[in-house]
Amino acid sequence: MLYNWHKVDGVLFSGIEENKMLDFLIGDKQVALLKKENALYAFAATCPHAGARLCDGWLDAQGHIVCPLHKYRFDPANGRNTSGEGYKLKTYPIEITEDYIYVGL
Ligand code: FES
Repeated sequence: MLYNWHKVDGVLFSGIEENKMLDFLIGDKQVALLKKENALYAFAATCPHAGARLCDGWLDAQGHIVCPLHKYRFDPANGRNTSGEGYKLKTYPIEITEDYIYVGL
């Protein structure tokens, strides 16, 4: 798979708070970033079920994203719908170079 890599403006890896979702317009997509245990994950900023903004949700005890609208859960590492409704959250690869964040779309 060939990606178009986009630098995330206005934020450095070291400046991102742990366990807090942030969303950005990257290229032409709304992408959310989440730093967890010093790893960074990128995924679609809106829920694949009915489009709620995932940054308004929270993380459960396993570190899975909980959508604020109907509480479906997603693994930020692979987009798996861990509450079992059969949806898939789109995820994106990340590269960190000298503290700059690049997301592959
Ligand atoms: S919109 Fe996210 S679970 Fe329904």
